[in-house]
Amino acid sequence: MLEEFEGAATIEKVASLCRRRAFVFPTSDIYGGLGSSFDFGHYGVLLNQNIKGEWQRSMIQERDDMVALDSAVIMNPQVWVASGHVSGFSDPMVDCRTCKLRFRADHLATSNCGKRPSKRPGEDAQCDLTEPRHFNLMFETHVGAVRDDASVAYLRPETAQGIFVNFKNVTSSLRVRPPFGIAQIGKSFRNEITPGNFLFRVREFEQMEMEYFVPPAEADEWHRYWIEQRVGWHTGLGVRPSHLRVRVHDADELSHYSRATSDIEYLFPIGWQELEGVANRGDYDLRQHSEASGTTLEWIGHEERYVPYVIEPALGVGRAFLTFLCDAYDEEVVADRPRTVLRLHPRLAPVKAAVLPLIGKNTAMVEQARGLYEDLRKALSAEYDDAAAIGKRYRRQDEIGTPWALTIDEQTLADGTVTLRDRDTLQQERIPLDGVKRLLLDRLDEAWHPRG
Ligand code: GAP
Repeated sequence: MLEEFEGAATIEKVASLCRRRAFVFPTSDIYGGLGSSFDFGHYGVLLNQNIKGEWQRSMIQERDDMVALDSAVIMNPQVWVASGHVSGFSDPMVDCRTCKLRFRADHLATSNCGKRPSKRPGEDAQCDLTEPRHFNLMFETHVGAVRDDASVAYLRPETAQGIFVNFKNVTSSLRVRPPFGIAQIGKSFRNEITPGNFLFRVREFEQMEMEYFVPPAEADEWHRYWIEQRVGWHTGLGVRPSHLRVRVHDADELSHYSRATSDIEYLFPIGWQELEGVANRGDYDLRQHSEASGTTLEWIGHEERYVPYVIEPALGVGRAFLTFLCDAYDEEVVADRPRTVLRLHPRLAPVKAAVLPLIGKNTAMVEQARGLYEDLRKALSAEYDDAAAIGKRYRRQDEIGTPWALTIDEQTLADGTVTLRDRDTLQQERIPLDGVKRLLLDRLDEAWHPRG
């Protein structure tokens, strides 16, 4: 078991590249930002789309037992009463009367004192901590014109509840029967008190959650199945297996709804942390909503009738984004010059192919290059670049993780071949212009392994 992250990435280096190369910007930057909120730039949007696309492909498109859902962010507030979030979705917090900061009681050992950041809260003689108090993480808002207790509503802190309250709609309108799943991607909001480490813990984030409804007797087996599937998804997209582990929750750390949870942890540069949770939620949610709403949520088959158990893999898009970037980030020296490269899985890479005329001022080369680029972009994400020296253009593409660069040169004009440069191996091969699109599409379908 590794103790330390293997590689060149630090959270700071990844955040700096993200800003420099338009993946992620601090939000409302010109007003001084807003703690731990971020905006996604061009390449960040593309990477996010690819992550969500791969999740959707493996969860929905390539399966027979899954359907999709997109439920509302603001739901009837009774949903959150029944789910237990109004009474129980809270963290124990302590306040320091001296520095006026608030800390999570269970994170004191890793927090910094407000007056003396070299010490932990409570370690300095001046620290004056309160007893732990519970602080609800849900953001409140009001629906309608009147702001009173009756108009209080919540921004959802998880997408899962939207799935449970639609159980009857889905089972009565689609041809599903247990075991089957409902998958959804959407924004969730939590008023985290100790956010931080760039995208790792933020207040507004997207989740990819799937609720898999099974006969109760099969729940343990399906729980194991989904843990394995989800680990395979991460490694299949290039995350090094040595940076992943599965950690079973102790009884005292289980969420209020959980019978058993295993975290898929990633060895971030800040240490092992939860990447994705896979929980066995039992029949907690369907029973709670049946009781509170008066609508029975159960499976009724020909000869059977029961409340299914639920297995839930839940992953943050931003946390996956940070994981893929930390794992892909690399620095090396090539021909005496440093290069930073994102060795992203080609299917995740924001841009798959860069088309570069060797000489940007050569009209014939530009024409050929534009033609190739305009053809390629119909099938995959491509970029055209004729500014700056060729080495500089390669470096820029390396930094955004573009797996293939196609260079149009004198020989292209003579024999209709182009140079295909591989981001990871730096090998160059000559291929016919008219075979480029097919070759790249085939390569996108092939298995890919980190570091060549
Ligand atoms: N429905 C279950 C659920 O929401 P969770 O462990 O609280 O479980 C699931 O969240 C996943 O969502 C986490 O494993 C993480 O990937 C992501 N996540 C949770 N809170 C987050 C936050 N504040 N910032 C970024 N991602 C977060």
